[in-house]
Amino acid sequence: MKQTDGPVSVLFVCLGNICRSPLAEGVFRQAVRNHGCTNRFHIDSAGTGGWHSGSPPDPRSVAVARRHGIDISDQLCRKITADDFSQFDYILGMDHDNIANLRAAAPGNHGHIHLFLDLAFGRPVEIADPYYGGSGGFEEAYRIIREGSEALLEKL
Ligand code: 4NP
Repeated sequence: MKQTDGPVSVLFVCLGNICRSPLAEGVFRQAVRNHGCTNRFHIDSAGTGGWHSGSPPDPRSVAVARRHGIDISDQLCRKITADDFSQFDYILGMDHDNIANLRAAAPGNHGHIHLFLDLAFGRPVEIADPYYGGSGGFEEAYRIIREGSEALLEKL
């Protein structure tokens, strides 16, 4: 059930929880900190798949975050759980496949499952999976996540 008191809880979700969603967790957390509203939010990330559970984020995500002054190296990948669907106010997928996987896995209502950048920008923009590409894809993912995080903060 959606929380009425306490912090707004936001769960960023991608496929593996090693590339995009750890970056989104770190970048949004930094944006929240920069705006002086850390206490207003509970922020986490997860994957719809569990292949990388217990591992740190992809070194290319750690590197791009570090280039922009954000440390995500202490995060550990995890798979989304049934409890997450009831505990988080906003469950934000990176692409349409994530949304389909989340809707299929959700035990209850889907009203709090959104495409991250659709909620942020009001346009259904996907964040492409950079896993199989070069470092440029990670820089592009960072750039759009940064813009999306600022826009999301204005909305929540
Ligand atoms: P992510 O990227 O969903 O942004 O974490 C991926 C990471 C790993 C795999 C796919 C996507 N994989 O197939 O292992």
